[in-house]
Amino acid sequence: MITNIGELVTNSPDDGARGFAALSNAALVIEDDRVAWTGPAADAPAADSRVDAAGRAVLPGFVDSHAHLVFAGERGDEFAARMAGLSYTAGGIRSTVAATRAASDADLAANLTRLAAEMAAQGTTTFECKSGYGLTVADEARSVALAAQVTSEVTYLGAHVVPAEFESDPSGYVDLVTGPMLTACAPHSRWVDVFCERGAFDGDAARAVLTAGQAVGLAGRVHANQLGPGPGVQLAVECGAASADHCTFLSDADVDALAASRTVATLLPGVEFSTRQPYPDVRRLLSAGVSVAIATDCNPGSCFTSSMPFCVALAVREMRMTTQEAVWAATAGGARALRRDDIGHLGVGARADLVLLGAPSHAYLAYRPGVPQVAAVWREGQLIVG
Ligand code: NIG
Ligand code: FE
Repeated sequence: MITNIGELVTNSPDDGARGFAALSNAALVIEDDRVAWTGPAADAPAADSRVDAAGRAVLPGFVDSHAHLVFAGERGDEFAARMAGLSYTAGGIRSTVAATRAASDADLAANLTRLAAEMAAQGTTTFECKSGYGLTVADEARSVALAAQVTSEVTYLGAHVVPAEFESDPSGYVDLVTGPMLTACAPHSRWVDVFCERGAFDGDAARAVLTAGQAVGLAGRVHANQLGPGPGVQLAVECGAASADHCTFLSDADVDALAASRTVATLLPGVEFSTRQPYPDVRRLLSAGVSVAIATDCNPGSCFTSSMPFCVALAVREMRMTTQEAVWAATAGGARALRRDDIGHLGVGARADLVLLGAPSHAYLAYRPGVPQVAAVWREGQLIVG
């Protein structure tokens, strides 16, 4: 039992609102890997072991529903050049592809383990992980196999960009992605993703990738409308994708399509921070009734942060989300973007994935930006940090 919790963010429909929900002066009981009881500390049942939260806040573990962690090398110089005035393009991906192809399995695994540990230390208890820096059958297959060693939310992103060797034959590359590469990657993957953007894949190619993935049992997600307007969001909705990610440049029709669908809009404010692009208009999405998730997009190019607390702070300060909206989007919203109902909330029966902050309320994530505030993390009922 964790008792004396100043603010227990449950996001549970049992505690009121459809979105963010919290209890004060609360306790929470874990049995094995699940939440067994929540309620006022004064009414808590007996427990064989107790942790005193001393008035601090407890939240569901963060659900980071968009990350690219299987890669080698880094692009610090590209970031510095951008801050000196260059703009971000999809072209930088190819330099990470070259470094990834040249790396050993052990080097890729070590980088992945390091980033997964960084995420856990910052309160992330579930993360999605994409391939997409291999772009050959063998390199994509080892990327999803390595990702599957650290998460069950593995995404096949062979359609990240067209690699240099297919420059003059992009449709040949789509055939590879929807054929032998898919066959090699599907056994390790739950999801199929495509970067639908000028400089990457157009609407028809993206539809072919999603359809082929779905035909072998993978569910769709789309990198959509990141660098400019385009067909990505409407394609995601048309194909029943779980999530359209980025959503930086949206038309009214895009917003309407999302609002009328189950597709979550996953916003990645660390990307706009790291590329000096305008932030997506989250108020427009929320007023239309669209479900919104916040994720990191952790990758060596457009955004190299693994920190969900940092992204929550950006969502609040730069996108004008309330602190409650941002925390919901980073927990329950991420779970919805992964079509999971066992995580992202702390209702009875939920997986016991939770974060103890060194602060009295969830608002401190944005109120004290950049300050480490994760005091302890439990995943499936086990203490993994603190
Ligand atoms: O989500 N948009 C495509 N992929 C990544 C960036 C990858 C890179 O620059 O290496 C993204 O921003
Ligand atoms: Fe991405």
